[in-house]
Amino acid sequence: MDWGIRNRISRIVKPDTGHTVMLAVDHGYFLGPTTGLEIPKKTIEPLLPYADALMLTRGVLRTSIDPKADIPIILRVSGGTSILDKDLSNEGTTVSMRDAIRLNVSAVALSIFVGAPHEKETLLALSNLINEAEDYGIPVLAVTAVGKEMARDARYLSLASRIAAELGAHMVKTYYCENFERVVETCPVPVVIAGGKKIPERDALQLAFNAISKGATGVDMGRNIFQSENPIAMIKAVRAIVHQNASVEQAYEIFRTGG
Ligand code: R5P
Repeated sequence: MDWGIRNRISRIVKPDTGHTVMLAVDHGYFLGPTTGLEIPKKTIEPLLPYADALMLTRGVLRTSIDPKADIPIILRVSGGTSILDKDLSNEGTTVSMRDAIRLNVSAVALSIFVGAPHEKETLLALSNLINEAEDYGIPVLAVTAVGKEMARDARYLSLASRIAAELGAHMVKTYYCENFERVVETCPVPVVIAGGKKIPERDALQLAFNAISKGATGVDMGRNIFQSENPIAMIKAVRAIVHQNASVEQAYEIFRTGG
């Protein structure tokens, strides 16, 4: 693999543990001002010291993140739909590679919608993005199974994740499921999990623990951190699981005592 791609991935996936805590704050690209992200800067800034990377759109990056911040950026470059659309799969590429480079990103991210009406367009968009990004040594994170109508079992998620890897994605973001080890084993590139909708903190920590135990490289978690009653304590607890092999009980104690 290209040196630039490996170098950028190593900024995101910490070489000392081989794991990563990505903070996902890109939800507004189709959800608008999601609960907890109404004023992005206010939510994101206090969490930056505890995140290994930040996943977001260029609009929030430009307006809400200090260019001096020492944080690798995973730039979402797909969009074009809103929560009001019946078909969320009708996405296109929203950011040029030129702008991604200008923003000095560490990776670009695009959603694919396997099994949805626009499956083909999103898979070709991923392929085109990889072709372009590889010219500049930029890794591509493929995001699978966004949308509540998508099946989220191991059969489906391993299908979607494997297709993303086969097309050349350097990392895959998917959901946790029963038999998650099958998703990881059959995907030849690192897999991170999304957190999904807000659930009780202990359950979200259990989710992170299960994913890491079953081979995930990390989490790309959003709502279960920024919608928590104590987001800083929550991200610290997630970090303990991802980077320090903490048990769910140990991590929950970190959360409960405020980090
Ligand atoms: C999907 O809307 C985005 O890619 C989010 O980044 C992703 O769903 C992860 O965020 P959460 O943990 O809130 O599901």
